[in-house]
Amino acid sequence: MLLNSQYTINKIPMKIADLKIPGNILLAPMSNVTNLPFRLMCRKYGASLTYSEMISADAVIYENEKSIKRGISCDDERPLGIQIFGNSPETMTTAALRIEEIYQPEIIDVNFGCPAKLLTKDGCGSALLKSPELIHEIIKKLSDNLSTPFTAKIRILPDMDKTLEIAHLIERAGASAITVHGRTQQQQYSGKANHEYVRKIKQELNIPVIANGDIVDEISAQQTLEYTGCDGIMIGRAAMGNPFLFRRISHFLETGEMLDYRQCSQRIADLREYFGLLEEYDLAPTVHIKAQAQWFTRGMRNGRHIRRSIAEAKCVEDIFESLEEMCKHAE
Ligand SMILES: Cc1cc2nc3c(=O)[nH]c(=O)nc-3n(C[C@H](O)[C@H](O)[C@H](O)COP(=O)(O)O)c2cc1C
Repeated sequence: MLLNSQYTINKIPMKIADLKIPGNILLAPMSNVTNLPFRLMCRKYGASLTYSEMISADAVIYENEKSIKRGISCDDERPLGIQIFGNSPETMTTAALRIEEIYQPEIIDVNFGCPAKLLTKDGCGSALLKSPELIHEIIKKLSDNLSTPFTAKIRILPDMDKTLEIAHLIERAGASAITVHGRTQQQQYSGKANHEYVRKIKQELNIPVIANGDIVDEISAQQTLEYTGCDGIMIGRAAMGNPFLFRRISHFLETGEMLDYRQCSQRIADLREYFGLLEEYDLAPTVHIKAQAQWFTRGMRNGRHIRRSIAEAKCVEDIFESLEEMCKHAE
């Protein structure tokens, strides 16, 4: 199907500092979601840059093995972005230097957006948006000490001017790019992302700006790129259990055509590959297998039936047996 071909946007390479990124569709960092196997699948399907789950700067300093392992990657995932969070310029810089030493990522991202109480109660994540001076100190210190380019991920503030002020400050202090999730801290994940703020930030800044929030399919990806004029888009929740979304969006942006594919067999094949990669990287014990299977089958026809059969499955093969049976009738 050919749609809106007059708006076809070819896959546009991005540059963050001196780093060339082959396209402009990014996978959002998501705690307990964007582990290495999942990121590899998103890359395979066209995500141009992937970030690790957020890593606590304090935990890195205390050499917490579980936290540090969140940065594990492999050659197929280059360029690699690792995200950190914290509340002190000193700790965050020491942690970033340690991460540089262990993983040599191409980018380190700083989390100024997470609204979870677990972070904000300690003044981390989006709580920092209330302290522009501290944001400045954090970025300045990182900028003075790191050789790795770093990026910042923020949420918007209720007030446009204050949001712009923070964005300018982040640029001035030395960040190489900024991602803006068009929701406030108070909104958490409710309401709609406000891309008007994102557009304004893009108009005013010189560093690359990446739009984030509510990009869920081909059309919303295209509309967000066009409306905001941003250098790239970042996709979070819609990609959970659905790495193939990157192929669909890339295909649409490059050709103006919706990709014709068999949803049911695609999802099952992806789930199999994902479970295989979890085994390969010895990460199966770190995830809830049934929850992951539910994510990978979200939005499929016969949803209630699928959810029940996954919940009742006794082993992984049970899950695939019932999915394949359902698929026979669906396609
Ligand atoms: C389960 C989950 C975990 C998340 N973890 C992180 C994180 O570790 N770091 C971060 O900056 N944002 C995190 N986010 C926010 C996403 O990166 C993204 O900004 C947000 O979901 C909005 O994008 P979306 O509408 O495409 O989902 C998380 C979101 C979800 C749903």
